Amino acid sequence: MRKDVIDLSRAVPPVVPALEAALAKSIEARVYRPDAGGLLRTNRPRGTEEDRRTGAEWISQRLGFTPDIDRMIVTNGTLNVLFLLLNHLVGRSGTLLTEEMTYPNMQALSGILGFNIRGIPMDREGLKPDAFEDVCRKIDTSKVLYTIPTVQNPTAAVMSSGRRVEIATIARRYNVLIIEDDAQALMVEDAGAPIATLAPELTWYVMGLAKTVVMGMRVAFLMAPRAGDAAALMEKFGKMSMWFVAALHAELAQAFVANRTAHEATTSIRKIAASRRRIAAEVLQRPDLAGGPLGLHVWVPTRPDARSLASEALAAGVLVRPGFQFAAELVPTGAMQGLRVSYCETRNEDDLRRGLAILAKIISARNAWPDTAATSGH
Ligand SMILES: Cc1ncc(COP(=O)(O)O)c(C=O)c1O
Repeated sequence: MRKDVIDLSRAVPPVVPALEAALAKSIEARVYRPDAGGLLRTNRPRGTEEDRRTGAEWISQRLGFTPDIDRMIVTNGTLNVLFLLLNHLVGRSGTLLTEEMTYPNMQALSGILGFNIRGIPMDREGLKPDAFEDVCRKIDTSKVLYTIPTVQNPTAAVMSSGRRVEIATIARRYNVLIIEDDAQALMVEDAGAPIATLAPELTWYVMGLAKTVVMGMRVAFLMAPRAGDAAALMEKFGKMSMWFVAALHAELAQAFVANRTAHEATTSIRKIAASRRRIAAEVLQRPDLAGGPLGLHVWVPTRPDARSLASEALAAGVLVRPGFQFAAELVPTGAMQGLRVSYCETRNEDDLRRGLAILAKIISARNAWPDTAATSGH
């Protein structure tokens, strides 16, 4: 990528200047110590009890209760655990159901692990219940639902409480296991209860630290439906060291949560993201983007062709991701006409403004704003 490109493509948290000292202090206290070598000589399959307690405490912010540590597994990031879970739960002959646009690694994992993937249509709240039920009825091989109910990737949709209940009820009716990825959920202060609390016996709940604490933190917390389910996963993969959480990162996660650096990071990330999202709404002249639940990205619907808009933007020095890159089944649908714009990676707000202005100009020049936005000034 050209060095001067303004990168609006990665949904990563911003740097929080005020936290740099706290992070350095935690590193010094936990890692830079006389017995640090001992940490590197210790494996932590599924995390130590303290690692799992840390995870249980962290995710209790969303769950409203602190899960038993026997249900917890701590791994090297969300993707690490998704790889194992998809292998364990879906297998080769099964089908993974996802939102029709989803975290692009799902598509890659279906190729690597050999399962089928089926994208389910979405609306403003994400997964559509009737479409989900329809697929549950029609597919008779084993099925697992992977969903991002809170700040969906890429649409930033957040399911209402009612929608969560509907999805949980259908999953129960058809006995569909659920993987709930709450990667950005702590960006939203009052998101509805996780599906894991509505269909606990079916749901594997995962939350990583990379989006709401610090990018590069390769630690994620998995809560299994029951202690026995966690044990069965361990039984299968327990000797594979690739997913033993790295000791130094696990120690840091413990320190960040115990001394509340992690909580402060999330609060600061929200503040910075809110300011940047306001800039996005203003420069793109899309006031609607400023409201609603907060995330690290917004979804900007466009008229066709979003892919060539993204290419044109890149030629002009701005990197954004068109909807097709998130297609679960690699089959373009109308819903994919849009761009995911992430606003937290640029070094400062001026760069963000410049990038967004270039993007807005391209979309306007192509008359590619959708009709609703066209009436509000474009
Ligand atoms: C929905 C979602 N889940 C998981 C991840 C990856 O998380 P981790 O860095 O913890 O592997 C991403 C990264 O973009 C994501 O968008």
